[in-house]
Amino acid sequence: MPWASLCELSDLTEGNGLRVDEAGFRLAVFLSNGKVHVLDDRCPHAHGSLGTGHVNSANCAVCPLHGWAFNLDTGQMPDLPGVAVSVYPTRLRTVSSGKTFVQVDLPLP
Ligand code: FES
Repeated sequence: MPWASLCELSDLTEGNGLRVDEAGFRLAVFLSNGKVHVLDDRCPHAHGSLGTGHVNSANCAVCPLHGWAFNLDTGQMPDLPGVAVSVYPTRLRTVSSGKTFVQVDLPLP
């Protein structure tokens, strides 16, 4: 699948998430230390929305419901090995208008 634009970089705030639905995927987008990450939004604990959460000091997305945390680079839960969310290839693209878009490569058939 071609890269899909999820939002503008300016829609993100450092350390906070943004939930975006794209092509049937429920995604969480984060800006942390100037780098953009895209993960599955659905927390495996009780389906909380990671995209409405924040980033902690260990560079993990924290679920706002009960505090489970997932590494932004790997999707792994440091406190519970084997529990993870998917992480997707992400890039930034700036167009001629000067706007910068967050793009993701989703595993579609
Ligand atoms: S639903 Fe995410 S920690 Fe409980």
